Amino acid sequence: MSVRKIKENVYAVGVNHWDRKLFDEIIPLPNGTSYNAYLIIGSEHTALIDTVDPVLKDALIENLKEFKDLKIDYIISQHAEQDHSGSIPEVLKLYPEAKVVTNEKCKELLIDHLGIPEEKFIVVKDYDKLSLGDKTLTFIFTPWVHWPETMSTYLHEDKILFTCDFFGSHYATSELYAKNSEIVLEGAKRYYAEIMMPFRNFIKSNINKIEKFDFEIIAPSHGPMWNDPKFIIDAYLDWVSPEVKNEVIILYTSMHGSTKIIVDELYNKLVEKGVRVLPFNLVSSDLGEIAISLVDAATVVFAFPTVLTGPHPLGASIIYFVNAIKPKTKFVSIITSYGWGGMAIKWAKEHIGNLKVDLLYELEVKGLPKEKDIEKLNELVMRIVEAHKSIGIL
Ligand code: FEO
Repeated sequence: MSVRKIKENVYAVGVNHWDRKLFDEIIPLPNGTSYNAYLIIGSEHTALIDTVDPVLKDALIENLKEFKDLKIDYIISQHAEQDHSGSIPEVLKLYPEAKVVTNEKCKELLIDHLGIPEEKFIVVKDYDKLSLGDKTLTFIFTPWVHWPETMSTYLHEDKILFTCDFFGSHYATSELYAKNSEIVLEGAKRYYAEIMMPFRNFIKSNINKIEKFDFEIIAPSHGPMWNDPKFIIDAYLDWVSPEVKNEVIILYTSMHGSTKIIVDELYNKLVEKGVRVLPFNLVSSDLGEIAISLVDAATVVFAFPTVLTGPHPLGASIIYFVNAIKPKTKFVSIITSYGWGGMAIKWAKEHIGNLKVDLLYELEVKGLPKEKDIEKLNELVMRIVEAHKSIGIL
C-alpha cells in the first residue's frame, strides 16, 4: 500500500496485510487486515500516528521515505500492542530526533514490550493538546478497547478522529473509505466480538466521550476509514446495547453421531417455533463467525460428547472462549452424550462463571437418543421459547 493523501498534509502511510490468515493466532481473517499509520505535517512539527506490525516495518519505512527531507518530531502511540507499536523502535532509528507521545500507562507498556528508553517519551494527560503549528491534536483517553491504555487523537482543523483498534475492521483494501459496506462492517464486528465485547460498558462511555468532538472522518488503525461516522457508531451502539435477538447458537461436536441427532432435532424444533438458529460444528467452524454471532444471540446451547470424565476438548475449548469474551447472551443450555459415564456437564457448569445467564436445561444422553431423550429435548425447546417470550423477543 503506498502513501495516500487524506487531506492537505494528512496522509495514510500504513500497510495492508492481505495474506494474514489468523489474528492473535486464533481468529481467522477471511479478508486479511491492515495496520494503519497516519502522517500529519504541520507548519512547525510533524507527527506520525501509530506504526505497523513489525513484520511489515520495511513497507512503512518505504512509505515514509517517499517524503523528501522528512523530519518526524512526534510518534503518537495510541496503543502499546505490537500490531501498532511494534515498528516504533525502527522509526526511532531512522528519525532519532522523534519523541514518543503517549499516556503514562502506554509508556509503561511500551517500555515493557519494546524496551523504548524512558527519555524518548513525552507523557500526555486526557484532553491534552499538542500543536503542530497550523494543525492541532487533542488526546482523548478511550481505554479498554481492549487494553487499559488506548487513546484516540482528534485533529481539529481537518475534523479527523484517529481511534486505533476502536472502530477498526479486519479488512485489507486499497480503498481509503469503508463506504458503509456490509463486508467491512462484518470485519469490524469480528474485531469487536473478539477483543472488545467483554468491555461493553467502557466502549459505551468511550462513545459518549468522543461524541463531544465534531469529526467527519473516523480513522482507525485497522481497515478503511469511515467518512460517515454515524454508520459505524450506530453499529457499535447496537452491539453494546443490552438488547439480544431471537437467536439460538448451537455450538456442537459429535464423535459417533448421538450428539448430532440431538442437535438436528433441536434445530428443527426451534425453527418450527419461530426462533432463528445458528448451528456451528466446532470441527470446521470459523471462530470469528462464532464470535460475531455471539454479539446478538439470546441463547447459547453447548452440545458435545463426553470424553473420559469431561467434555470433548472442542467442547471445553469453546466454553472457555465464550466465557472469556463474555457475550450479552441471557440463556444457556448444555447437552452431552456419553458412552459409559462422565462428568461433562458438571465441568461445563463450573466454567461459565463469567456469563450472566440463566441455565435453562441440562440434558445428558446415554448412547443413541431414545424416546425419553426426545421428550426431554421438547422440554428444553419449550424453556427456550418461554425464555425468549419472557424478554419480548418472540
Ligand atoms: Fe490492533 Fe489491540 O491491537
